[in-house]
Amino acid sequence: MSTITVTMVQQDGKEVSLEATANGTSLMETAKARGVEGILGDCGGGCACATCHVYVDPAWQEIVGPPDSIEEMTPDMVADLCRSNSRLSCQIALRPELDGLKVTVAPGE
Ligand code: FES
Repeated sequence: MSTITVTMVQQDGKEVSLEATANGTSLMETAKARGVEGILGDCGGGCACATCHVYVDPAWQEIVGPPDSIEEMTPDMVADLCRSNSRLSCQIALRPELDGLKVTVAPGE
């Protein structure tokens, strides 16, 4: 299995570089384990809390893909903070094609 690098930009502007195995683990789980600020993952990946909300860098949107219908229904995702490049990081499975991915952590409420 390959190792990939994902860059997460926190709300304080600090860029955190994460090395992870591309084994299908979610970006939320990886970010939480490494202490990325703003990624809480309160519901454990169940599309119910949006405390794992990120903005995908536009250059990566097509590769990451759009949210599915369940993700789109997450209550907080329809709020003011939602943008066209919003994703729940618990729904982004780390895979080899995502090597170099860059996302920004969405502001908390
Ligand atoms: S961890 Fe709750 S929606 Fe992602």
